Amino acid sequence: MNACWACLRAIDGGSRYHTGCLRELFGVTKAPAIDVELAKLHTLALAMVGHTSLSGIQRKISLRLAAESRTLQVAADGGLFILKPQAQTFPSLPENEHVTMRIAQRVGITMPPCALIELKDGSLAYIVKRFDRLEGGRKLQQEDFCQLAGKAPKDKYTGSAELCAKLVLRYASAPIVDAQRLFRVLAFTWWTGNGDMHLKNFSLLRGEDGMYRLSPAYDLLSTVLVIVDDQLALSVGGTKKQVGRKKWLDLAAQCQLKPVVAERVLRELRDATDDAITLIEASLLPADMKAAYRELVRERAAAWAR
Ligand SMILES: Nc1ncnc2c1ncn2[C@@H]1O[C@H](COP(=O)(O)OP(=O)(O)OP(=O)(O)O)[C@@H](O)[C@H]1O
Ligand SMILES: [Mg+2]
Ligand SMILES: [Zn+2]
Repeated sequence: MNACWACLRAIDGGSRYHTGCLRELFGVTKAPAIDVELAKLHTLALAMVGHTSLSGIQRKISLRLAAESRTLQVAADGGLFILKPQAQTFPSLPENEHVTMRIAQRVGITMPPCALIELKDGSLAYIVKRFDRLEGGRKLQQEDFCQLAGKAPKDKYTGSAELCAKLVLRYASAPIVDAQRLFRVLAFTWWTGNGDMHLKNFSLLRGEDGMYRLSPAYDLLSTVLVIVDDQLALSVGGTKKQVGRKKWLDLAAQCQLKPVVAERVLRELRDATDDAITLIEASLLPADMKAAYRELVRERAAAWAR
């Protein structure tokens, strides 16, 4: 099957993106050209440190759509997109993040429009629309959970899922709604084998209406595909590995979810397994990673049922 490089649903041979998907991401119906080569990105990313509000270790750069909307250009300030190219450390991270974000969307996690894109040298990169920028460049305030917890960035791994729940219940404008959204993301993190959801990968975003909400999800990927025994970044009920059903239900209680609601969230993830596998099959991951990802979501979903 030929799959769209944005939504991963079927597409006629010959096209790379659905026009609707292009409109959603770029606001135009023709894929913009991108004037960036992988080889130059490292220097660019380094030059950007200090110029943008992007932090994080993986290389990434900020892009904007040029006035004629046909090319994506590197933007020191005010870029509406984030580009994450192939990394030197691990293979296929862009493909991994892209499919994981699409699985997240399938299970009702809010996420920004995203796609894979081919750079000038033929390599694949992940591109995502910024959710903290309004048209015209105005910026929405974003506070990550490291900041909310009063911790230094270097301490982003010293936390727990329970701490995240506390922060949401304390600072979100609609605490109960967002604690339920948080629980879904935390459970998703386990289901998809993500060992890098540290405190800086969760944020509250201040909307134009002044309300603080859990931001759309970002940086979701399956680190287990590249680090086989990877554990959770934040503990659940004091543990980072083999988090069983009971611990998830306890966490749900800390998020102030009723047991029936918690059960429903876990069931919804479990019931999405076949669809997740369809997305994995349609993804641009190499065959061995597809097989590993398939097994992972099957196994972890089955463990929740027990
Ligand atoms: N779509 C987005 N819109 C707005 N801000 C974003 C978006 N995606 C990421 N960010 C911000 O940029 C920061 C870095 O992005 P991201 O976490 O994806 O990169 P990373 O290099 O994988 O980070 P790390 O490996 O340190 O966790 C995030 O912590 C978040 O504050
Ligand atoms: Mg991150
Ligand atoms: Zn599509």
